[in-house]
Formats: sequence, C-alpha cells, structure tokens
Amino acid sequence: MWRVFLTGATGFLGGELAVALSKSSSVEKIVCLIRAKNNEEATGRLQSVFAVHQDTYDRNKIVALAGDLMDERLPTVLARYPSMAETNLVVHAAANTSFLQQKNPVIEQTNLWGSQRIAAWASRLRALETFAYIGTATIVGAGKDVVGRMLNEDEAPNPLAKHLVGYTRSKMFGEMAVRAIIPSEKLLVIRPSILVGDTRGIVPRSFDIAWIIAALKHLRMSFGNPDAACDVIPVDYAANAILELLMGRRTHTTYHVSAGRSATTCRQVFNSVGCNGSDRPPLVYLTRTHLELIKRWLRTNNAPDPELSPYSRHLEYVRDQIGKRRARLLLSGLEMYWRFIDLDQRFDNARLLGDTRIGISEPAHDYLKRTAVYLDHIDPLQAAVNP
Ligand SMILES: NC(=O)c1ccc[n+]([C@@H]2O[C@H](COP(=O)([O-])OP(=O)(O)OC[C@H]3O[C@@H](n4cnc5c(N)ncnc54)[C@H](OP(=O)(O)O)[C@@H]3O)[C@@H](O)[C@H]2O)c1
Repeated sequence: MWRVFLTGATGFLGGELAVALSKSSSVEKIVCLIRAKNNEEATGRLQSVFAVHQDTYDRNKIVALAGDLMDERLPTVLARYPSMAETNLVVHAAANTSFLQQKNPVIEQTNLWGSQRIAAWASRLRALETFAYIGTATIVGAGKDVVGRMLNEDEAPNPLAKHLVGYTRSKMFGEMAVRAIIPSEKLLVIRPSILVGDTRGIVPRSFDIAWIIAALKHLRMSFGNPDAACDVIPVDYAANAILELLMGRRTHTTYHVSAGRSATTCRQVFNSVGCNGSDRPPLVYLTRTHLELIKRWLRTNNAPDPELSPYSRHLEYVRDQIGKRRARLLLSGLEMYWRFIDLDQRFDNARLLGDTRIGISEPAHDYLKRTAVYLDHIDPLQAAVNP
C-alpha cells in the first residue's frame, strides 16, 4: 500500500493527481503540502480542490499540511511529523510556473532550492520506494539543435542549454538537484509536455495556456508559425499516465508524458475551436515584423504603417472593439508564447507507450473541439496581466 506525500495539490496537474491518487485502492494515505497559515487553512484549500469537480474528500485518507517550498526549514519541519516517517511514495509536483522574468528569484527559490529541500527530506525516509519528480519536457531548452524535431528523454538535462524563460531553466536545475540526491533506483522523473484542457467535458481547474487560445480568438491575429508542432496533452491524460507510471512496472527512470506523434499545430487548434466564420474578421497569421509595426501603431496616434494596409479591417476591429490599451496588454502577455510556438518541438513518448497501457493521447484539436466550450468565458486580458 502506498503512503504518499504530494506537493502542488492546489495546482492544475497536482489537483488532478490528488484526486486520482485518492481514488486508487492501493493508496492508504496522502499527505499534501499546501501553502497556508496553518493546517486548518491548508485543509480548507485542499477541500476546495476536491470540490471543483465534486470529488469525495475522504478525511481518513487525505491530510493537508501547511508548508512552503521557499522555507529553508522545510526538511526539518517535515522530519518532525512521526506519521510522515512511513511515507513510501513522494510525488513532487509543486512549482512556480510563471514565465515572468521579474519573478525569476522566486521561481529559482521554489523550483530549484524547494525541490532540493523536498529531496533532502525524502532521501532520509527509511520506507521510501519512489520519489517522483514532475519535471517538464521543455527543460530541453531552445537551442538550434533542439528545435523543429522530435526529442527524446536523454537529450536533457543539458546544463548548457539555451532557455527562453527562467521557469524552464529552474526546472532543469531542479531536476538535476533531485537526481543528485535521490538514488537512481528510487527515482522517477516524469516530464509532461504542455497541458491544455481536459477530455472529460468538464471545465478544467486552470485556464493556464487555454487562455492563449481565448486571447487569439479575441485578437484575430497570431504571430507564431501556425504550422509548427505543438505538443499539447489534456490534463486528465497526464494524470492517468502519471498514475500508471507510479503504480506500474517501469523500465526507465525518465519519461515524457506527451503527445509525440499526435502533436497538434496552432492552425489545427484554431480551425477546430472556431476562430473563423464569426462576425469578427477572420484569424490571420502574421509575421514578427507585422507584430512590431502593430505594437508601434498601438503606442501612438499615428496612422498604421502601409505594410499593414491588407489588415486594415483587423486594425479597425482592434481599435473599435478591443481598444488600443487592452490590445497592448494582451500582446505583451502573449509575447513569449510566439517564441515557444516557433520552437516546433515534439516529445517522443515511446517509453510511456511501451511501459503503460495509456495509449496515445487524443490530438488537442479533436478534444478541444468537443470540450472547450469554456474558452468564450475566459477573460483573456485578466489572464494576460496575471500570468
Ligand atoms: N501546466 C503545464 O502545462 C505543465 C507542463 C509540463 C510540466 N508541468 C509541471 O507540472 C507540475 C504541476 O504544474 P501545474 O500546471 O499544476 O502548476 P500550477 O497550476 O501553477 O500549480 C503549481 C502548484 O505548486 C504550488 N506551489 C508553488 N509555489 C509553492 C511554494 N513555494 N510552496 C508550496 N507549493 C507551491 C502551488 O501552490 P499555490 O496554490 O499555493 O500557489 C500549486 O499547487 C509543475 O512541476 C510543472 O512544472 C506543468
């Protein structure tokens, strides 16, 4: 029977993991580390996670523990709980997932040093059988050698990799720190690709990334390569795959949980979620040069550059229906994502498919078409200014 310690249970993926673990008959206890003033507040936060989709919160099985990865005393605090000494499975899913450069110090404290703290505590557990680190496939970075193709697990971590944002760099160093502490026979590194939505037709617990689709439906302009591969999977597929990896027989230490050959493209997603055919102008795919000209036009009262004249209907729509200030904020929230889209990366999932019965994930353009009715209720501006 598994006695689990889980971090990140209030998150998009962590919430699904908490619920899925609680439903497993081979799990006896789950202790979740939750940011809160005290255990009572932590319990309230965890109960809300279960309430999102009306899942049963079993008080005899699930326990919330107040704690923060940024707290230097965390390993000592955790070691003080006698009941935690019997933990045999640690699932470390918490991370600061912001792309904002100004948050880099906190991101590093959480994702690198926080992971090191959890691993340091876990390495002293007598009963530990598996330490599962939830990483990200994007730690492979953005160097010329890793773009435009299928990538396998062994191509990362590479400490010399070039990164677009501090988040992916910190996750790479976090994974390296965990690898250095946890013996390889107990270590399981799981690297999901990009999580968007849910195939079950329920409103997902987070609109992270999905807000970008909502923003582009609103803006009617996209500035990334529309035909670049986007390795997107639904959160329920990711949680199920992770459960299978945790509980099943494994032949590797490191696994991508990804779409691989069933990766989608922006064009396929936008075609399927109805970005065309409405009363607004059709979605257009523009270049980065166009983007700079549009940004300049949004900042001034000058007429748009003549190069933008084929898109005058779009500019009128932006000016009259969105407003120049709101459009500026939206474009600034989206800035980094064009560069991610252009990486054109797919993550090989042969190990996952070989060692589990999960099967390939449904392509994002198919399940989003069926399930993403909630996109029109997302306020993209709200998401863009609070990433
Ligand atoms: N979402 C994706 O597309 C994606 C893709 C690949 C890999 N991943 C990885 O999957 C894992 C889960 O991601 P997610 O999408 O669920 O992220 P998320 O929705 O942003 O949730 C992050 C979780 O980490 C917790 N956390 C953040 N800072 C913390 C701290 N200082 N102390 C304790 N807990 C802290 C958050 O708690 P609060 O509620 O208190 O903020 C929340 O529970 C992460 O490791 C992420 O790197 C995610």
